[in-house]
Amino acid sequence: MAGILITGGTGTLGKKLCQLLDAQKTSYIIGTRKECNDPAKVTMDLIQNTGVREAVAGKELIFHLATDMKKDTEATQNLLKALGGQSKVHLVYISIAGIEDIPFSYYRQKLASENAIKQSGIPYTIVRATQFHEFAHSIITNLLRYRIGILPKKIVLQTIDVSLVAKELVNVSQKTPENKIYELGGAEILKLGQMAAIWLKVTGKRRWILNIPIPGKLGKALRNGALTTRYRKKESSGFQQWLENYLQIAE
Ligand SMILES: NC(=O)c1ccc[n+]([C@@H]2O[C@H](COP(=O)([O-])OP(=O)(O)OC[C@H]3O[C@@H](n4cnc5c(N)ncnc54)[C@H](OP(=O)(O)O)[C@@H]3O)[C@@H](O)[C@H]2O)c1
Repeated sequence: MAGILITGGTGTLGKKLCQLLDAQKTSYIIGTRKECNDPAKVTMDLIQNTGVREAVAGKELIFHLATDMKKDTEATQNLLKALGGQSKVHLVYISIAGIEDIPFSYYRQKLASENAIKQSGIPYTIVRATQFHEFAHSIITNLLRYRIGILPKKIVLQTIDVSLVAKELVNVSQKTPENKIYELGGAEILKLGQMAAIWLKVTGKRRWILNIPIPGKLGKALRNGALTTRYRKKESSGFQQWLENYLQIAE
């Protein structure tokens, strides 16, 4: 296909998507904020709103993976404005499973981005994924950096191997856009406390872990699995297997 742009192609998910497209010998351009002379990259900033029109010009398929924790909706709206309601583009947007039920400000932004896409008139596919294994690893590493750590142990997660999310993006991009939302999640559902126990076992670290309960409706939703999905990818590696591989690669 001619003209593919990947916003966020330098990120965790973006890198996996690029690997898959490389394996298929499909060419693409990555949008990044960094100035570079690489012909496979274009400099654009979705918040500063610079280089966006140039980046989208002539593209037929746009994977929109770039994210800004505070201004995700603004970034998406700037992308949509640059596209100007073109009906010949397929916009593939990555979102998060369960965003309707969790009142995090980032999730509200993602939901508003989804709504802006739906109302734009641009043919789209939205893929909602559960958290990536990398995300859980980074949260646990951060919260357990000292000998005594605090963790909301009862939060339920269904983390997924990010390559499967990238594969899903490729799959949906090859279909005619039907303005649909797809969802996918990992093979196992674990409490954050169980994931932390796996993390301690694999890293060989020793920590005292205190539970911090998250109160109210938010806590209840997180404990009751609002971040999980029934669209489970059985082939996803579990957290332990992923972490063992990841740490071997990182060594
Ligand atoms: N992490 C998870 O567990 C998870 C789960 C489900 C869905 N998602 C969604 O998946 C997407 C990718 O997540 P990720 O974890 O791969 O993200 P990431 O590693 O944090 O990468 C973020 C990307 O956004 C780009 N970016 C940030 N601000 C930008 C701006 N102003 N203009 C243009 N590009 C900008 C960065 O590119 P440069 O630095 O090169 O400019 C980078 O490539 C996000 O939309 C996220 O909501 C994530």
